Order: sequence, then structure tokens, then C-alpha cells
Amino acid sequence: MDTGSADIRQRLRALPALAGPFPPVDFSCAPASPQDLFLDWLDAAIHAGIREPHAMTLCTVDEAGCPDARVLILKSVDERGWHFASSGHSPKGRQIQAQPAVALNFYWKELGRQVRIRGVARPLDGTESAQDFLARSLDARAGVLLAKQSAPLESPAEVGPAISAARKRLEADTGLIAPSWHVYAVAPSIVEFWQGAGDRLHQRLCYQRDDGESPWRRQLLWP
Ligand SMILES: Cc1cc2nc3c(=O)[nH]c(=O)nc-3n(C[C@H](O)[C@H](O)[C@H](O)COP(=O)(O)O)c2cc1C
Repeated sequence: MDTGSADIRQRLRALPALAGPFPPVDFSCAPASPQDLFLDWLDAAIHAGIREPHAMTLCTVDEAGCPDARVLILKSVDERGWHFASSGHSPKGRQIQAQPAVALNFYWKELGRQVRIRGVARPLDGTESAQDFLARSLDARAGVLLAKQSAPLESPAEVGPAISAARKRLEADTGLIAPSWHVYAVAPSIVEFWQGAGDRLHQRLCYQRDDGESPWRRQLLWP
């Protein structure tokens, strides 16, 4: 081990993690559906003033089975699941088309909370995707219209003119919709709520989809 890696280990170990204090949660009165508990926790994150509480990590796998991850914005939550929007032409869009099994992760560090979701991502119908596209700013729509997200860029000088041309098309036709834009819903099969604790006695509640009378089975997990 060289001195550089010893130094970074010491510096990392000195950084606090899960410093808290975090109030304990009472999972005994958790609602029957994970969506309802998620919305309670999201409200708590918003009220705590957490920046971008609707930012989440989406994990996908590519055709070779290699995992990939990136941050996205949560668009909605309903009985269909957790929604996000992106280009179907992007790497994530192509990965989901080939393998719709995905995972989502939210981390609200000021509350010591994370939510882990596993499920299947499916594009919603064209009307919902079109509405989402039209609700975006002109700049955001122009970027999507190019349909080049994550494609190799030969020179930064290419970006400005391409965006200007896309803006002009959108200004000339305000109803123009990028066909590649999709809202996806992640239909959950497992959702875990994780409340961290400074003493590491974390509290965990897992909802697992069940074919029985209630659609969800709730199970506490060891820290
Ligand atoms: C806070 C934040 C929010 C983002 N929101 C979105 C989003 O809602 N949709 C999206 O396509 N990309 C979003 N991005 C960009 C993605 O992280 C990613 O870079 C992009 O979608 C390309 O991913 P891909 O190459 O895996 O397809 C966001 C990035 C950050 C940091």
C-alpha cells in the first residue's frame, strides 16, 4: 500500500457517516402499501428542506448483464409505481427495452433514510409522455429533440448550433413532441424503507408483493 492510499483511507475514515441524531420510526403502524409510506417519507424530506428530495438513482443492466446507474428526477408515484422520464434512445432507454428489471434508490441523508425499490420499468402510453414533454422548458425540450443523449460528442462547438436549430423547430411548432421521450413507471415487487441510526441499530421494513389477500407482505429486517 502506498502512502497516498493510506492517506485517503484515513481521510475517509475521519468523515462522519450517519451522524444523526435521527428520530426512530414506528413501523408497527406502517400503511398497507409502500406507495403510501413512500409519500409520507417524501413529505418529511420536503418539509426537512432537503435539496432535490425527488432525485433518485436508477439502476439498469445492459445486454451483457453489466449494471449501470444514474440519477433521475421522480415525476410521480401512483398505483402503477414510481415514474421517471427520459429518452428511449438513451443508453438507459435501450437497456430497459432489452431488460426491464430495474432498481431505484432514494437517499435523504439529513434524515438518515433510504428507500430501495426493485421492479420492472415500462413506458406509459404516448399521451402521458407527450404531456410530460410539453410541460418541459424550451431548453429542456430542445435537448430531447436532438435525441443524442449520451452519444459521443466530437467537439463542444457542435452543441450550440444544434440546440439553436432544435429551439427554432419547437418555436415554429409549439405542439411538436419528441417521439423518443417516454415516461416510464417502475412497477415495484420489493420496496424497503431504511431508517439509519447513529448506533447502527438501523430500522428496516420491507414490502414484498404477495399473491395472497393483501397485495403486500410486510417484513422487518435485521439492521
Ligand atoms: C439531479 C439530476 C437529475 C437528472 N434528471 C434526469 C431526468 O429526469 N431524465 C434524464 O433523462 N436524465 C436526467 N439526469 C441525467 C442522468 O443522470 C444521465 O446523465 C442521463 O440521463 C444519461 O443517462 P444514460 O446514458 O444512462 O442513458 C439527471 C441528472 C441529475 C444529476
